[in-house]
Amino acid sequence: VTLKTRLGWDEDRSAPDLARRAEAAGVRLVTIHGRTRCQFYAGRADWAAIRAVREAVTVPLVANGDIGSAADARAALALSGADGVHDRARRAGKALAARAGGGGTGRRPVPAAPAGEALADLVCAHHEEMLAFYGRALGGRVARKHLGWYLDAAGAPSAARATVVTCDDPARVAALVRAALAHAPALAA
Ligand SMILES: Cc1cc2nc3c(=O)[nH]c(=O)nc-3n(C[C@H](O)[C@H](O)[C@H](O)COP(=O)(O)O)c2cc1C
Repeated sequence: VTLKTRLGWDEDRSAPDLARRAEAAGVRLVTIHGRTRCQFYAGRADWAAIRAVREAVTVPLVANGDIGSAADARAALALSGADGVHDRARRAGKALAARAGGGGTGRRPVPAAPAGEALADLVCAHHEEMLAFYGRALGGRVARKHLGWYLDAAGAPSAARATVVTCDDPARVAALVRAALAHAPALAA
């Protein structure tokens, strides 16, 4: 079980206490949107304020809000101390450079964005995780939009995209994705 919440309801900034209690109850990962509920979507997300949650829990922490590029992802990791970012805006590609980097703590450098076979490996791993999590039938359908976004971001031909997002055989989907991404450049940051 994971938890996603905001910095607090308002200036109470209750997220560290809430996250601490969630961790004690067994929650395995916490995501914080760097705004309060009263802010709704106004103003900029405050990545530095997420650091108070970093100091409150040891489970993996994910920073969220206003992350629209790899540079944003790096800044959010550095300011928050989070282990990863949740990027709604750019979906497929822009935050891949930060994925699994743990760069916010300074423990590991942010890896370069993958290209070619390394990109195909990452996308196929995501595909397999979706199949494992949702099961073959639903997972295959959930995967379609993500695979489509990856292929669009990589500039794959629309015919390849159309075949991938209409195919029901996971092994064939993976093979098509590999073929489409084998020589793809790193997705733009
Ligand atoms: C139209 C829309 C729908 C959303 N739906 C959900 C949701 O179902 N669950 C959730 O945890 N957050 C949801 N969010 C919040 C986003 O996941 C994210 O926390 C928030 O938009 C801040 O990130 P951003 O600045 O990248 O948009 C939604 C946001 C928008 C704009």
